[in-house]
Amino acid sequence: VPSVLYDTHGRPLEYVRLAVTDRCNLRCFYCMPEEGIKYMPKQQLLTYEEMERLVGLMAGLGVRKVRLTGGEPFVRRDLVPFMTRLAALPGIDDISLTTNGVLTAPYVPELARIGVKAVNLSLDTLDRARFARITRRDELPRVMDTFYALLTAGIQVKINAVVMDGQNIEDIVPLTELTRELPVEVRFIEEMPFNGGSHAATPATLPWNHRRIREHLEEHFGALTPLAVPAGATASEYTIAGHMGHVGIIAAYSRTFCGTCNRIRLTAEGGLKTCLYDQGVLDVKALLRGGSSDATIIEALTTAFRYRAANGFDAERQRPLHQLSFESMSTIGG
Ligand code: GTP
Ligand code: 5AD
Ligand code: SF4
Repeated sequence: VPSVLYDTHGRPLEYVRLAVTDRCNLRCFYCMPEEGIKYMPKQQLLTYEEMERLVGLMAGLGVRKVRLTGGEPFVRRDLVPFMTRLAALPGIDDISLTTNGVLTAPYVPELARIGVKAVNLSLDTLDRARFARITRRDELPRVMDTFYALLTAGIQVKINAVVMDGQNIEDIVPLTELTRELPVEVRFIEEMPFNGGSHAATPATLPWNHRRIREHLEEHFGALTPLAVPAGATASEYTIAGHMGHVGIIAAYSRTFCGTCNRIRLTAEGGLKTCLYDQGVLDVKALLRGGSSDATIIEALTTAFRYRAANGFDAERQRPLHQLSFESMSTIGG
């Protein structure tokens, strides 16, 4: 068992988020504008072989968990064979996926077969018209097919719902109702200012912050009982009396997770981000394509991780509003 790498602030490297594409088949308005974002030419994306090599090296540094993100991972071809190879890498014991569910349903049996235990499904509303307004695509039925396929296959589902003032507040209760008789977790997420310029920045005082979401839930469902969560988790989790599943709240905008952050990110074009808010601290693709040895890449990854910023969130929040990044979540990988 490889030892775990720690940064100079004592945080372990356990988890890598791999954006396999910057493309997406939806246009969620909190993520990108209607016209989409400027996608990268395909040759600039890391190849599956390159990603597999990197994850193998990271496993040697102690990484055990890989989450595939995007964009939408399933818009990239041959995703499942790639996941199969990742799952076979020594040391990697948790492969998961964040998906919008539009293209996912047909692949669910294969995901189960290769041992994917959990899938995070982005779903902000159960109302078809509101879904079409928020995502600018009328795809709710296919997303619900994915939801039920995952449940049937026994894959754990976490629903990610971004809470938006004036858009889907009326969905908080119906989404939570899903937890009454289904073993799912529904996580409500504060909107972050990563919308690719789709609309004005989130105001400094978010109208629907984690506290207000919690109060709203308690008005409808009674007291929420906090659950213990692992270190490095993004969500505060709660049980509701009599419900089979549970709810979570991700205070992505008003709280910092930096103190327990256990993750790094690889962008689709092969940049290493040691913080959600950095602009990429290492051009891993240049190393890979420049013929670097494994030892050189391991050394570069180790140094980048060891000296990563203590608290990127506070630095971001201290910048004047007009300097905040207007990147899209689709290029960051969430
Ligand atoms: P689990 O592995 O199931 O805990 O997933 P996750 O919550 O780490 O990832 P997911 O892709 O489901 O993302 C859920 C929400 O958390 C998204 O809005 C992400 O952008 C946000 N998120 C993920 N990592 C971070 C982080 O390091 N900092 C902040 N502020 N938000 C994050
Ligand atoms: N704020 C919060 N969450 C966001 N996501 C995408 N854009 C934003 C944003 N601006 C969520 C998606 C997906 C996850 C990876 O990030 O809904 O579930
Ligand atoms: Fe696509 Fe996810 Fe962005 Fe929506 S939030 S446009 S599903 S990448």
